Amino acid sequence: MDIQNATGSNVGEWLRQALSSWGISTLTDIQVKALAAGVADGESLIVSAPTSSGKTLIAEIAILTAIHRGMRVVYLVSHKALADQKYADFNARFGEASQSPLAAVGLSTGDRTEGDVDAQIRIATYEKALGLILNGQMSPPNTLVIADELQILGEDGRGPDIQTLCAALRQRKVKQFLALTATVENPEDLAGWMNCRLVQSSERGTPLHQEIWAADRTYRVIFGDDEGEEIETGPGGTDLTGVVTRLLEAGRGPVLVFTESKKEAHDFASDFVRGRPRASIGIELAEQLDLFSEPTESSERLKSHAERAVAFHTADLSAQERQVLERGFSLSKFEVCFATSTLAAGVNYPFQTIVFPKLTYQWGDRAGVHLGISEYRNMSGRAGRLGLHPCGFVVLLPKNAVEREHARKLVSPINQRLKSGLLSLSLRKTVLSLVASNLANSLSDINEFFQNTLYWYQTLDRNPKKLASLDTGSAEAVKWLVENELITEDEGALRITAFGKATAMSGLLPDTAVDFAKMLKSIGPTVQQLFDEYADGFIYACCECQEFRAKKPSRFLPYVGPDSVGALNFWQSRKLPVKLDQNDMKLAQCAQAAALYAQGEAERKIAYATGLSAGALHRLSLDVAWVMEGMHRIAVVPEVSCPQTLTNRIAMLARQVRWGVPTSALDILRVAERDHVPGIGRQRAMALVNNGLTNLHDVVSAGSKKLFDILRNSLRVEALIESVTKTIGHNPNNMEKAHIRVAVAFGIESQVADCYSKLGTGYEIAILSLLASIPGLTTTALDDGSRQNVPDILLKCGDLEALIECKTTTKNPALIKKEEAWAIVQKAADFAVHARRVTLGKPHFDEVSQRKAAVATDITLVDNGTFVEGVLRIHTGQMNPTQFMTWLTMPGVTEIERLPGKPTYSL
Ligand SMILES: Nc1ncnc2c1ncn2[C@@H]1O[C@H](COP(=O)(O)OP(=O)(O)OP(=O)(O)O)[C@@H](O)[C@H]1O
Ligand SMILES: [Mg+2]
Repeated sequence: MDIQNATGSNVGEWLRQALSSWGISTLTDIQVKALAAGVADGESLIVSAPTSSGKTLIAEIAILTAIHRGMRVVYLVSHKALADQKYADFNARFGEASQSPLAAVGLSTGDRTEGDVDAQIRIATYEKALGLILNGQMSPPNTLVIADELQILGEDGRGPDIQTLCAALRQRKVKQFLALTATVENPEDLAGWMNCRLVQSSERGTPLHQEIWAADRTYRVIFGDDEGEEIETGPGGTDLTGVVTRLLEAGRGPVLVFTESKKEAHDFASDFVRGRPRASIGIELAEQLDLFSEPTESSERLKSHAERAVAFHTADLSAQERQVLERGFSLSKFEVCFATSTLAAGVNYPFQTIVFPKLTYQWGDRAGVHLGISEYRNMSGRAGRLGLHPCGFVVLLPKNAVEREHARKLVSPINQRLKSGLLSLSLRKTVLSLVASNLANSLSDINEFFQNTLYWYQTLDRNPKKLASLDTGSAEAVKWLVENELITEDEGALRITAFGKATAMSGLLPDTAVDFAKMLKSIGPTVQQLFDEYADGFIYACCECQEFRAKKPSRFLPYVGPDSVGALNFWQSRKLPVKLDQNDMKLAQCAQAAALYAQGEAERKIAYATGLSAGALHRLSLDVAWVMEGMHRIAVVPEVSCPQTLTNRIAMLARQVRWGVPTSALDILRVAERDHVPGIGRQRAMALVNNGLTNLHDVVSAGSKKLFDILRNSLRVEALIESVTKTIGHNPNNMEKAHIRVAVAFGIESQVADCYSKLGTGYEIAILSLLASIPGLTTTALDDGSRQNVPDILLKCGDLEALIECKTTTKNPALIKKEEAWAIVQKAADFAVHARRVTLGKPHFDEVSQRKAAVATDITLVDNGTFVEGVLRIHTGQMNPTQFMTWLTMPGVTEIERLPGKPTYSL
């Protein structure tokens, strides 16, 4: 429909103009229906429509109108690749990258946080969303929440958590809720449960021709039709190379082939390129890959395939390789791509044909199981994207009669039923989140909450008896949580403890958190002195925890190949904070792989030693880092009584595991990745370190010749130097705006703004003036220009004293290095020993100086944003000056999580 004819509440000239400025002149069926149902006027909707029917635009219209009404927006996505794509898209449409920016856009996924804590539009993974509610970054009554791909609510592992989240939003009276889902059999269940209007369409803007190929016949049916037709095709064969070749000859490229495993993707690709000529487009792609990739086994193959316009897309590619490929797909430069399910859901590239060479899984847990309907829908939906091709094609290649039968089912218009699996969840975890987020303060609240879940909604009519088991289950969960001090019970009133809150924020299973707390309490004091000896052991402890080993685990250890005795030997020679399980070879191998990875060991060598492929290793390291970050959250809880220097080390180790390099290479790698410096991944970052360049300052002073010798490419060298010199920390402070806003209520906004903006002496003055705003603290400016070589400030509160040195740096590169961080120790030499030595700095301290602080006991480093948050917690009445001083002078790197109370911007 032409946009001029669209109607609906709040649909007027201004909206039409906005749409045309986005290049939209007509609307798809589902878009017309959503407008008519009031999406532009704050109406809550469940939108159910096929792939590529333009659901994202409906979300964008809702965002636009919500922003105009001063609301906040949270866009929830099912996985991080999609989060990255939406972040870039929304930044271009509404944020900094648009011609007339409307709102700040932020991103929160397990791996990446971008933008201000106060950003009006936030993209987050479902897993992060509960954390956003808990720390006050999302206040439902003023928020539009968009839930993309909500059909994942039916998935076993994560479905239940997502269901809890939606029920929580509903109970907290979210202002507008917009769910986008692929077609499911029972969307009215979702709508009834969430109390939303349902709009649905079975129309796919671009027709999708689905074909089942047999030796000499083809059955063809258009997506949505009940019946298709049988066509005689003559002999052609169904071997994959032949099939793809014929598709290309028929002008049906680019072709995307889905494979079950990485190995299959590689093998098919190698078979296919044999005998194919090199193409000029391909040479250009290969050059790009050469610049952007690090020398690994698959990168060589990727390049030689690219010369023939063929790609594979699997989990072991580096982020940069993926970007080059994805740019190539967008511009249709590749003719064929062999991919695992990494490209399955929600993404938008101009493939014209999707090929399914296999309809039954052959490996792993799912061996013998057929491809599911919703998987098939999502994957086949990558073809024929609206506006990119007039139609799309799908080719299925069944191997036998049973598969042929199944193929018929896949291409029929039957949809899968969305079923709630609430009971597949750890009830303890759900109950804990409910109490933590104040949604339930008693057992009856909890039971009432469950009555608001989809599970309840769906079970009520069919099997009411089953619901009683939920009541018993939640009572048991409460009992367990009380016994383990995650919540307290006082005459039926349930309250969260600090430990419980930290557990809920971490996302860990309560069982894991309890085990970690026990371990840390018993071994903490020993380990603090010997952390280097225990570091690998902590990685083992993370692989050994309930997240991977519970009856209903939250994550899985990957496939490792044959047993390796070497792994047990590896662990026998190390100190472990938990018991070594001699019988679990897989655990030993995975943990060893993660430990080697954290040291920066090459992936090839890790594969050789442990049997873990690069793709499996990448996934595992992210999972282990996530668990360890959770352990850190538990460790900072006062009752667990871990010293800050120990918790600092746990946090650093988690960063090492996540990035796969030791401390010395972390800054280089993070800065290079943020600025997309071509071809600098963990291998080249390690090469720099191995050549003696162990921090950003070394990189700058090395000079381009030395850098060229290590990096072998002048473009890469230039990009690295530019990135390092322009850097303002690797994580620009994201609390500035929020802090200035909070400060207004206390009349100290100019002081707070100065703390963020001033440099050098101006910064010292700003800090003094901010501290002067707190009664109960005495400040003395020591360095008034008349004395040489003394600290800047003496701060007193009762018996506690701190000598403070203020450091700012904007120079190249703007990270405070260890000599600067340590200057206070020498400057304070003539002062009383009991006064603590504190360096207060911005934008950030480099990793090496943080590490040094975490192993020393005579110094505290605190970064400016954390410090300002501490001061504001006093103003907001959440802590007193003595608590502030105790916090500020704890040895190590001051942690924001140790502050009592809530983030000030969430109050
Ligand atoms: N009204 C329109 N006019 C032109 N192009 C459109 C319109 N609406 C959407 N598109 C384009 O259609 C493509 C697919 O849209 P979108 O990604 O929103 O699909 P979807 O319905 O979310 O499907 P999926 O289930 O695959 O995520 C995008 O390239 C989008 O820009
Ligand atoms: Mg979509």
